[in-house]
Amino acid sequence: MIRKLCLGMRHPYHDKNDYFLEDNIEVKEPLDLFHKWFQVVKTDTRTVEPNAMDGYPSARFVLLKGYSKEGFIFFTHYSSRKGQQLAENPRAALTFYWEHYSRSVRIEGDVEKLPFEDADQYFRNRPYQSQIGALCSDQSKSVSSRNEIEQIASQLKEKYKEGEVPRPPLWGGYILKPYTIEFWQGQTDRIHDRIRFRRPKTDEPDGILTHRGEDGWIYERLFP
Ligand SMILES: Cc1cc2nc3c(=O)[nH]c(=O)nc-3n(C[C@H](O)[C@H](O)[C@H](O)COP(=O)(O)O)c2cc1C
Repeated sequence: MIRKLCLGMRHPYHDKNDYFLEDNIEVKEPLDLFHKWFQVVKTDTRTVEPNAMDGYPSARFVLLKGYSKEGFIFFTHYSSRKGQQLAENPRAALTFYWEHYSRSVRIEGDVEKLPFEDADQYFRNRPYQSQIGALCSDQSKSVSSRNEIEQIASQLKEKYKEGEVPRPPLWGGYILKPYTIEFWQGQTDRIHDRIRFRRPKTDEPDGILTHRGEDGWIYERLFP
């Protein structure tokens, strides 16, 4: 029964004539080759959206505003480009580089919004200028000139004096809950150290490549 079920689920792949061997690559230029493949799928009525592709990854600086065993916290506009990207794919990676120590930390994890009470608390303690800066910014949208932004800012300063600036309704915090954290220590002999902590898979730690850490973490050394 199981065998039948599995066979039934097998996706029909191609036979030997369709092997993608170096010798039968029609054109050895990747864009032309892409064009050929694209033409094939585009003209096939079974293809619903031939031009669907994964979004580009993107990166930007944000300031770390807190961390605990729960995760790493930053604040931003939820309506920004990063906010929209996180709504679609709530995963992110963080990198730190501390030059004078030749140290770097890389963190990957799942991202969640923090409650607005946390944003209120943090926003209240920001300098006036930063509060106005956040309130006057429709972050990531196009704007005609710096002058336009400055005009919005001065109108807001007229309206709200120090201590009165409201938090922008869609400005708040995120917490990145890590599933992997790597510590990199640069060495003069160029054999740098990399120790990665992550959550264990089945049969881990094995005591050879992976070792038991604390709080459910395991760690392993990586080639530099
Ligand atoms: C050092 C540094 C720190 C920054 N910190 C923040 C931050 O904490 N929050 C934020 O929204 N943008 C911060 N920015 C601006 C972002 O890098 C980015 O320009 C902005 O958030 C818009 O990104 P997006 O259009 O991809 O959403 C910082 C920029 C730099 C250079």
